[in-house]
Amino acid sequence: MVEKIQRVAQEIEAAQLSNAAELEQFRIAYIGRKGIISSLFDDLKQVAPEQRRQVGQDLNQLKNLAQARFDQAQEQLVNAADSTAAESAFDFTLPTVPNTLGTRHPLALVRNEINRIFSRIGFNLSEGPEMEDDWHNFTALNFPENHPAREMQDTFFLSQDRDKLLRTHTSTVQVRLMETQKPPLRSIMPGRVYRNEAISARAHMMFHQVEGLFVDKGVSFADLKQTLYFFAKEMFGQDTKIRFRPSFFPFTEPSAEIDISCFICKGEGCNICKQSGWVEIGGSGMVDPNVLENCGIDPQVYSGFAFGMGIERIAMLKYQIKDLRLFTENDVRFLRQFEGVI
Ligand code: DAH
Repeated sequence: MVEKIQRVAQEIEAAQLSNAAELEQFRIAYIGRKGIISSLFDDLKQVAPEQRRQVGQDLNQLKNLAQARFDQAQEQLVNAADSTAAESAFDFTLPTVPNTLGTRHPLALVRNEINRIFSRIGFNLSEGPEMEDDWHNFTALNFPENHPAREMQDTFFLSQDRDKLLRTHTSTVQVRLMETQKPPLRSIMPGRVYRNEAISARAHMMFHQVEGLFVDKGVSFADLKQTLYFFAKEMFGQDTKIRFRPSFFPFTEPSAEIDISCFICKGEGCNICKQSGWVEIGGSGMVDPNVLENCGIDPQVYSGFAFGMGIERIAMLKYQIKDLRLFTENDVRFLRQFEGVI
């Protein structure tokens, strides 16, 4: 029996345990219930009683030896598997993944630029709701009831009585400002507006405007002209010229359309300015005394000017974008062209 134990011990020491299959065979042969060591314990009964204690201790040692070899070999195999997995996960020859920056939307770029330019001459920023009522969108702005001027801007109404609507212009925010604050007022109001139009390269049912308002004592058309002249030069270049064309808006008197000299052809005539040398960027005028009065400002004391420009229009001119739909399609090939611009 003693000899047999020694022989098995030698076998255990010498066993090859270099893969999972060998390890499993070893476990079955030596450690398992039907293995050699287990059967040696069974044989213990036949050992003479005076030797039994010693042989029992030897057998226990043998059992521990087998278990220790098994544990050690198993750990080695697991570690080896881990390190090959780690090696294959890292291919150090691959190029790095570039850390690309997102881009600002061209409309946000233009809006931010407009905000910066006007903030330099003392204009602050105001906002108003996109869901509006008849008063703020039309009536307070001197649109007579049932007047065709209301049809100038095809409106999305939100209620049967036509009182709730999606604002058709940012002039609504002028009204809110004058109703809630006292002059002097000097603010620009960018935001989204809606009109019931079929979507095409030149029209959309949703677009952006920026409104401007200046109300104080003694504000004149000369102030309007200089303010917009300053804006045009900052936005489109110092040699930009500006021109006012008589026009009509219910909320301004007199009213004027704002044109700038075409900065593509410098006034020579090209297809952006349709050979005229001038491009339109918005509407403007002196705030109609009726509007001041509707908003609780005394027109005998105060006067003001206002203007409204299309942000898409300015972005299209500045970046020579030919289709309005590009702004809302989220085509990354378009958006990526503005990478790095702030
Ligand atoms: N609200 C006008 C529009 O949507 C634009 C406009 C024209 C705004 C003249 C003004 C203004 O403040 O004075 O077409």
